Amino acid sequence: MTSELCLILLLLLPFPSHSADPDPLQDFCIADLKGTISANGFPCKLASNVTSDDFFFDGLSQEGSTNNSFGSSVTQGNVLAFPGLNTLGISMNRVDIAPGGLNPPHSHPRATESGIVVQGKLLVGLITTGNVFYSKNLTAGQMFVIPRGLVHFQLNVGQEKALIFTAFNSHLPGAVVLPLNLFASTASVPDNVLTKAFQVEQTVIDEIKSKFGG
Ligand code: GLV
Ligand code: MN
Repeated sequence: MTSELCLILLLLLPFPSHSADPDPLQDFCIADLKGTISANGFPCKLASNVTSDDFFFDGLSQEGSTNNSFGSSVTQGNVLAFPGLNTLGISMNRVDIAPGGLNPPHSHPRATESGIVVQGKLLVGLITTGNVFYSKNLTAGQMFVIPRGLVHFQLNVGQEKALIFTAFNSHLPGAVVLPLNLFASTASVPDNVLTKAFQVEQTVIDEIKSKFGG
């Protein structure tokens, strides 16, 4: 090994690398969502104000409405909905998908996702950074994993509604939903970027944008 390489490695050693949100330094830190301090996470609610309710969340118990153009609904159980998750490095979603419905291609910049099918039959697919597509049909009780940051989707290929619960190693995984990200952003991505990127005429971009209220 050259001495330059050794020096670079030595310089990098003090920097920790995390595979998920950093470990907490206290038992709990119920998020004070109204806190004014800006931090990587939220400031903690005063321990003396913490109650049992801070550790429980029933937001995933109700079926989400799939009466939309994708025929799907993602109910998020992240730190914004469930402040008790603050700094703990985990969260969950509930995904309801009507027959033929799709949880559209998206990625989570801050978390790996695992999921379990509770009801229905789904095609679960993911695409690697090398543009390799992996997929499988799953039914109740079967699990999947989506490595952090990779684009993925779930398509209901059955006759009945489908239900999945997903889990993340971040209290706020984030979601880049590709069709919305590219075609429904504020402000709009310039049309000439989209026509060039997708190698299509302006009319195609106009049509896609119109589907998303653009
Ligand atoms: C499913 O992919 C989810 O993000 O909950
Ligand atoms: Mn996902």
